[in-house]
Amino acid sequence: MTTGSAALGLEVPPRAAASPSPASGEASVSVRELDIRYGALTAIDKLDLDVAKGEFLVLLGPSGCGKSTLLNAIAGLLDISDGEIWISGRNVTWAEPKDRGIGMVFQSYALYPRMSVKENLSFGLRMNGIARAEIERRVAKASRMLQLEPLLERKPAELSGGQRQRVAIGRALVREVDVFLFDEPLSNLDAKLRAELRVEIKRLHQSLGNTMIYVTHDQIEALTLADRIAIMKGGVIQQLAPPIEVYQRPVNHFVAGFIGSPAMNFFEGRLAGETFHLGDLALPLAGYGFSSRPRPSDCAATLGLRPEHVALGPSPHGVSFEGTVAVVEPMGADTLFWTELGGQPLSVRTHGERALAVGDRLRLSFDPARLSLFDAASGERL
Ligand SMILES: Nc1ncnc2c1ncn2[C@@H]1O[C@H](COP(=O)(O)OP(=O)(O)OP(=O)(O)O)[C@@H](O)[C@H]1O
Ligand SMILES: [Mg+2]
Repeated sequence: MTTGSAALGLEVPPRAAASPSPASGEASVSVRELDIRYGALTAIDKLDLDVAKGEFLVLLGPSGCGKSTLLNAIAGLLDISDGEIWISGRNVTWAEPKDRGIGMVFQSYALYPRMSVKENLSFGLRMNGIARAEIERRVAKASRMLQLEPLLERKPAELSGGQRQRVAIGRALVREVDVFLFDEPLSNLDAKLRAELRVEIKRLHQSLGNTMIYVTHDQIEALTLADRIAIMKGGVIQQLAPPIEVYQRPVNHFVAGFIGSPAMNFFEGRLAGETFHLGDLALPLAGYGFSSRPRPSDCAATLGLRPEHVALGPSPHGVSFEGTVAVVEPMGADTLFWTELGGQPLSVRTHGERALAVGDRLRLSFDPARLSLFDAASGERL
């Protein structure tokens, strides 16, 4: 099911603008009111998504949130319950996978074990009756881009995991289509290889300029690769925005907790006017960018503070407090240490060369402009 007749001829599309606007009418992939149900379970719930031409879109979310289901629906590998799917201006809702103009890379490389790398790369093209010279050209181009040239005569068993995954990517590349779909292509690899291949995929996208939809549950992959990230939960997109926006202004508590490593600190308290009450502390939040939506004058709220947004020392316009170092976690470039704010644990990220010992008393501060505040009941950003 992974190979089909290739769409012919690669027109390299222009690079997307830095912030692709799906409203520009240049959508490459559009999903309209998509519903996918398995019996009583709703895997995808009335989902709308526009992916701009040349955009690198990452679908991110925890296990079971519907990432693969959405990708497989775009690929045509499963039956949808309701809605429409458009690719490159064509309604492909009922089209066969091979007729959708997509190339797909799966988590399991699924290479043909008895074929050489070169045969693996060319097999789908041969099956589709593509002319020999054209196959040679495409295989040569893909192997050059993926640095597979020295490996072309080897069998998959003679390759490392990273090399196998490069062959699997190559098999999608030779189809020379406008849209590539990746489902966790790097998750079988160790951390170092993953980081290397991540850079290669980014480079590939920069030189090809194709539309890419990339599924991962790894937020670092999402942040580093994406033009925009769609963060999913329970078959619903929670936030669709460039990585920096998702990081700086998460729309709800779930997104805030999912993005960022080490994770954001959360404190349960009350918001009264522009003051956050946490135990005995009253933290003035002047400078915090409240959303334009109306909010109650007094409500139970969650304050979110990233470990890297706590500074050592007082701050002229920030909120200052005293903390005692409880645990120190050196991480090389950075050091994470644990203290408390209002009786609740707070992790702080600081420079790795800063000497810290358990029991040290420190003056700490944060800038309210960098906080996130959420309604405790709904989880929505305040
Ligand atoms: N064929 C199926 N029949 C019934 N339920 C299914 C089927 N395929 C998927 N599901 C359910 O649909 C939901 C979404 O599954 P999906 O595979 O899309 O998750 P995912 O986000 O890709 O997760 P993971 O990160 O674990 O791969 C899950 O609850 C899953 O159990
Ligand atoms: Mg999946």
